Amino acid sequence: MNEGGSGATPTLDKASFRYAVGHFPTGVTVMTTSTQGRLHGMTVSAFASVSLEPLLILVSVERSTLMHQLVLESRAFAINLLGKWSESTARYFADNARLAAPEFREGSFRLGTTGAPILNEATGYLEATVHGTHQAGDHTVIVGRVVALEISSEDEPLVYYRSGYRSLD
Ligand SMILES: Cc1cc2nc3c(=O)[nH]c(=O)nc-3n(C[C@H](O)[C@H](O)[C@H](O)COP(=O)(O)O)c2cc1C
Repeated sequence: MNEGGSGATPTLDKASFRYAVGHFPTGVTVMTTSTQGRLHGMTVSAFASVSLEPLLILVSVERSTLMHQLVLESRAFAINLLGKWSESTARYFADNARLAAPEFREGSFRLGTTGAPILNEATGYLEATVHGTHQAGDHTVIVGRVVALEISSEDEPLVYYRSGYRSLD
């Protein structure tokens, strides 16, 4: 796997790709949406800011996910930023098993201006309407135009690095 940086030609396959991109630490978010009364959330780390004029963000969403279907219906979503105490929430929204139960605990969220759930425990959120989409292999890059945002806590973020949850401490 070329761990020592020896200069050998690295293998180009899914495993080496995952291993390589896993060395780039990211924050962790829960992307949420609602359509026809259905609320849905999914853990997302492929989130980035894109433009200041206008205010744009992006997420990369796997095409096989339920989120992919629902966000292209609703045309709006929220990105809930997770703090270091929210590892169990990140695990929950990354697990399809939650779909068997009500996804959001009563009292743990409110609906934002787009109707997307805003988690009380999030350190902040950005809400966006879908500005554009770009098919990219097995994912769709969704660019969102920010319509609302708030930072409610300066708690340290939850970090994802090399397949594990970390905090900055
Ligand atoms: C830390 C972490 C980050 C993730 N980031 C993304 C992401 O950026 N895009 C994506 O499509 N899936 C991502 N996933 C996988 C989804 O959360 C997972 O496939 C989810 O169960 C799909 O939800 P759904 O089909 O119920 O919508 C991530 C999972 C984890 C654990």
